[in-house]
Amino acid sequence: MTMTIAAPPWQDLFQRLLSELDHRGSADWQADQARLDPAIYHNPQRYQAERDRLFRRLPLCLGHADQLSEPGSVVAFELCGVPVLIARHRDGEVRVFLNVCRHRGARLIAEESTVCHKQSLVCPYHAWTYRLDGTLAGLPRPEAFPDLQRHLLGLRRLPSTVRHGLVWAVLDPAADGADSNRTLDIAGYLGELDRDLEAISIGRHRFYRQHAVRRATNWKLIVDAFLEVYHVTRLHAGTIGPFFADSVSVGDAVGPHQRYLVARDRTAEIRALPPEHWSPQVHGTLVHFVFPNSIIVYHPDYISHLGMFPSAPDETLFVHTMLTPKLPADAKEEAHWTRSFELMDGGVFNGEDLAICEQIQRGLLSGANDGLIVGRLEQNLSRFHGNLDAALR
Ligand code: FES
Ligand SMILES: [Fe+2]
Repeated sequence: MTMTIAAPPWQDLFQRLLSELDHRGSADWQADQARLDPAIYHNPQRYQAERDRLFRRLPLCLGHADQLSEPGSVVAFELCGVPVLIARHRDGEVRVFLNVCRHRGARLIAEESTVCHKQSLVCPYHAWTYRLDGTLAGLPRPEAFPDLQRHLLGLRRLPSTVRHGLVWAVLDPAADGADSNRTLDIAGYLGELDRDLEAISIGRHRFYRQHAVRRATNWKLIVDAFLEVYHVTRLHAGTIGPFFADSVSVGDAVGPHQRYLVARDRTAEIRALPPEHWSPQVHGTLVHFVFPNSIIVYHPDYISHLGMFPSAPDETLFVHTMLTPKLPADAKEEAHWTRSFELMDGGVFNGEDLAICEQIQRGLLSGANDGLIVGRLEQNLSRFHGNLDAALR
């Protein structure tokens, strides 16, 4: 019996990228110019609708499970106004809870986005104590609570699953769509992208570093910036721009998600290579957008996961997680990846992309633009905003 192994999804993208380099023929060149209403980036009702109908209902990627590599690892974030705690228990399972004590609601872990190691979670207010599987282990002066049903007072668990090494959760403990074990069908949610993430083996990557920062911009301006390559050789001229062709990419809509491949300086080299040697990190830059708020960028020797979590119309928690194919073996590799992280996170993402997003946010109410113009090189934005409108309807 012969087994056919399906070609990885980027081989077809590379074929299309080569013809796009030769002659601009993709369907995007037939698109009409579009306009985005500036109000979608600052209107409070729009923000509330996004929070309630997207961010509290859809599975969101909260990062990579390897960040919590050991039992007892715990990390807390406030995501879209929801205090969240992610913990790995002795049984090896990663669970996601509300970071809220069941006595009178204090936060169990006050510090955000720093992994700590705990035997148990002790509330700072009156010291109710929880195990890392969420169950209530004990409380001081129990005689004061004669009616307490301890088994009902574990931490509130959010529906969550680890798939492809990534932690996915719905930020509503009462959400539909989870089975009785509070797990989620992420393969179904990702559709064809599920195969992409398998093919690129993101699950076998290791957590290297993370930087979480609140920036004064609407979350969608950040997503917009990572969905188009028109700016790359210009805004990033002093950093990564020289490694890319000028605005050449091809992509697919995958349900509400997107995958696209960006031409680099080395893309033409694949003409002399067999397809199995075409690298979606070296000969092009593959990008996945997982609706509504995750971007995954495949750099030449590491991966960036970006999560955009709005806390107000004009404020977003931007979480950049760097994943490497292995942990650094020596000081030289450590120095190399540290330099890469500092260039990409500090120099490119925060220093260039997000700085522009904050400038745009400040100018939205100036009256300069009735609509933000989207051209044929920015059609991924039209797809994203079309899917957003559909999800909010
Ligand atoms: S609020 Fe946590 S122990 Fe009282
Ligand atoms: Fe950029």
